[in-house]
Amino acid sequence: MDSTLSDLVAQARVALAESADTTSLANAKARFLGRDGSLTARMKALGSLSGEQKAAAGRELNVAKQAIEALVNAREAEIARAQLEARLAQESVDVTLPGRGLGAGGLHPITLTIARIEAIFHSIGFDVADGPEIEEDFYNFTALNTPENHPARSMHDTFYVEGGLLLRTHTSPVQVRYARMHPPPIRVIAPGKTYRVDSDATHSPMFHQFEGLWIDEDISFADLKSVYSDFLRRFFESDSLDVRFRPSYFPFTEPSAEIDIRFPDGPLAGRWLEVSGSGQVHPNVVRNFGLDPERWVGFAFGSGIERLAMLRYGIGDLRLFYENDLRFLQQFNR
Ligand code: DAH
Repeated sequence: MDSTLSDLVAQARVALAESADTTSLANAKARFLGRDGSLTARMKALGSLSGEQKAAAGRELNVAKQAIEALVNAREAEIARAQLEARLAQESVDVTLPGRGLGAGGLHPITLTIARIEAIFHSIGFDVADGPEIEEDFYNFTALNTPENHPARSMHDTFYVEGGLLLRTHTSPVQVRYARMHPPPIRVIAPGKTYRVDSDATHSPMFHQFEGLWIDEDISFADLKSVYSDFLRRFFESDSLDVRFRPSYFPFTEPSAEIDIRFPDGPLAGRWLEVSGSGQVHPNVVRNFGLDPERWVGFAFGSGIERLAMLRYGIGDLRLFYENDLRFLQQFNR
């Protein structure tokens, strides 16, 4: 091959090797093989040669052209492979990296407390019931021996809603609903949400109570005392918890008592703390159950669930339950 031609091939080899991407490769290819390329110019110049010289030079030019084309193809393949490798490296997933994790959720302390209360009462044969939070005046008050204009109505600051309905101010209406639907003897608790117009560190407009109702023919206040005291000692896991029943007043019970507890030790030791209302169901209420108060005796209690949870977990401010602060809630994850 004539030396100027082999120089040309050598130049092409360098230029192609220096092309790092498809655009510069196309430019380099055009410099030699394109319409104005140096090899193309040599081909055009063949026309001025005589027959024999033309054939020989033409063969050489073809050999050079094929050599440059082969270099272009090889470089093209190299660039394509490099591009593919770069893309794969970028898109690859490092499966050895630690995952971001979903973080285990947990139950709300009120939910945990309700589950605990239900488990304890279930174990001594109590059913669990619920009732509507939007309630009729009849079930919330009248059937519970609290007719209109009864002074005890002012004990509850009631949220009234449309249609003469109200947000139940306590879980006691479930007593009436349940007793009207189930023949005695009855042993039931009814946990749920209750509402009152009230809001500060120890009162929330929405809070939880659980109601208890026990109806049978031959039970006495002593039975209520033992069942509820036993519940408290199991709930607080303390056999030495003091429990006292202090005379009180509720329209739906007679006699009525508030139930106080006293811890033997810990930060609250020595102080009486009220946890529940209770009493013997008033004969008028037993009649509203559809039962004969001469035959059936009822005992009832209604306890604040937040109150029990605060005492059990040592929580000072009721509002923490409703702020959805994960730093608070995560302490109850199990
Ligand atoms: N319903 C009462 C309240 O919300 C609590 C209560 C007291 C419920 C005595 C009872 C009971 O069943 O017997 O304050």
